[in-house]
Amino acid sequence: MNSYNNEKIFNSFLIEREDKNSPFNMQVKPTMLKFMGNLKNKNILDLGCGMGHLAKELHFLDAKKIIGIDISEKEIEYANKYHKESNIEYRILDAQNINSLNQKFDIISSGIVVDYIEDFDTLLKSINDCLEDNGLFVFSQVHPLSTAPKEKRKWLQDNDSSYIYQLSDYSFEGKREMPYFDGTVTMYHRTLSTIINTILKNNFEILEMSEPIPSKEELEIFPNRIKNLHKPSFLIFKLRKKS
Ligand SMILES: C[S@@+](CC[C@H](N)C(=O)[O-])C[C@H]1O[C@@H](n2cnc3c(N)ncnc32)[C@H](O)[C@@H]1O
Repeated sequence: MNSYNNEKIFNSFLIEREDKNSPFNMQVKPTMLKFMGNLKNKNILDLGCGMGHLAKELHFLDAKKIIGIDISEKEIEYANKYHKESNIEYRILDAQNINSLNQKFDIISSGIVVDYIEDFDTLLKSINDCLEDNGLFVFSQVHPLSTAPKEKRKWLQDNDSSYIYQLSDYSFEGKREMPYFDGTVTMYHRTLSTIINTILKNNFEILEMSEPIPSKEELEIFPNRIKNLHKPSFLIFKLRKKS
């Protein structure tokens, strides 16, 4: 079963997704929107749209048409109920089957989804096929430094109170059961070089990357997020399909 159909994960994720101070909303979303640029007249596919939060924002940013796809029936049901607009369409679809849409998009966005998918190579090929020439693929994922350890990650504090992250298993790619709220979700760890080489192999150029860090304001509210200056939590890419 898809983890996001699970009642507990669904409810916890909904609370976090609607918290304007969540790490996703403070660190990831602003960079993804900046990377997507001007959305006027753009046809957009939001891959793994969840409950439609990003799709709705793209609507308010003047996108022409947005299709949101997700594998979780429960999330698509929620998206249709609470985040529907006349230019947004939601569909239950596996991100690995987007070729079945038979459409090309100006921009494909994806917030923390690709790391739930084992075959990154085939996924990127399908995404490339579904983009117009020079189309953009903007995606975020959990940082490989976070997905690396096979066991629960523990932080150490040294004598001068600086945080030390215990990195392990970095070169052992593959399945990880990542702690998520009360339970776990299955994700796939890939090294940075695998991620970049797979991108380059699939006819994309990398226009920009980000490993976001908390702003001064964010640190004032959440001093504990100083940890992200020692180890970023997310990795964000802006890719362009080569013509
Ligand atoms: C961390 S959530 C992010 C949701 C959304 N992008 C957002 O910003 O709210 C991960 C999402 O990926 C979806 N997902 C996981 N595997 C998928 C797949 N193979 N195809 C489509 N969606 C998938 C999950 O159902 C979930 O909605």
